[in-house]
Amino acid sequence: MATAQVTTLHDKAGHAASSSPAPDETSDYLRARNVSLAYAGRGNDIVHAIDRVDLSVKRGEFVCLLGPSGCGKTTFLNAVAGFLPISSGELTLRGKPIEKPGPDRAMVFQQPGLLPWRDVLHNVTYGLEMSGKIRGRQAAAHAGALLKLVGLSDFAHSYPHQLSGGMQQRVNLARALAVEPELLLLDEPFASVDAQTREALQVELLGICKRAEVTALFVTHDIGEAVFLADRVCVFTRRPGRIVRDVRVRLPKPRDEARLKPEFLAYVQEVAGVLGSAAAGKANGT
Ligand SMILES: Nc1ncnc2c1ncn2[C@@H]1O[C@H](COP(=O)(O)OP(=O)(O)OP(=O)(O)O)[C@@H](O)[C@H]1O
Ligand SMILES: [Mg+2]
Repeated sequence: MATAQVTTLHDKAGHAASSSPAPDETSDYLRARNVSLAYAGRGNDIVHAIDRVDLSVKRGEFVCLLGPSGCGKTTFLNAVAGFLPISSGELTLRGKPIEKPGPDRAMVFQQPGLLPWRDVLHNVTYGLEMSGKIRGRQAAAHAGALLKLVGLSDFAHSYPHQLSGGMQQRVNLARALAVEPELLLLDEPFASVDAQTREALQVELLGICKRAEVTALFVTHDIGEAVFLADRVCVFTRRPGRIVRDVRVRLPKPRDEARLKPEFLAYVQEVAGVLGSAAAGKANGT
């Protein structure tokens, strides 16, 4: 996988990309307090998807969300993205309630959902064109650098149907990164990618997040992936989901060589134990 330094839009706009965040951004950048969300089910049924979720995330942190299928992880991500209104509680970004989607957030879905009539390069420039941040040749150059980063330079002029599932997912990631969100929301983004590509993408994703000072919420079912990526692994109970355990992963980054080390495997075991209890419905995850 190629590594490439991507010039940030902030650089282009003349802002100091490295300026440190204000203190209020560092403590409770993203904050969920008692957040519950229920859907209208069939008939008069109500589906309580998440129940009193508490989570505080610092600017720049990488937080992985794990939990049994159907426990509300995607629901929580959609609420943070501003796609779904919460039923009760408080959900704030930089101290302001999240009420709608915004350019400060980008979502990477499990299914790439690329625009079939646009080639790869123009799928990546799409968000830039919509946001009006940069256009034309500048947008193409920025997108080109991101395609290099995800190893797809040679496919810039291919169409989505000409790519494998893993390649489409890499375009999906490049597309989300193109708009330089502060907060990246990723919902099992590498689930359909082969193991080797997946590990390479994990390494690249960490590098990108660090360079661009991106905060990330990353949903996965893969415990090894969570331990590799995360500063913290938050484990949900089964539905209605609540965060029962917040495991801080104190392994130095970059973790490129970490996967076979005993400390890494100890974290994998710890998280697996918590997840097993959460799936079995033990409230404290122990
Ligand atoms: N639009 C909807 N209308 C009604 N119920 C919904 C809707 N979306 C999700 N649900 C229900 O909410 C619960 C949580 O769903 P969600 O997709 O958030 O789970 P998840 O943790 O992401 O699961 P998975 O790991 O399988 O992706 C599930 O019981 C699901 O059936
Ligand atoms: Mg989901």
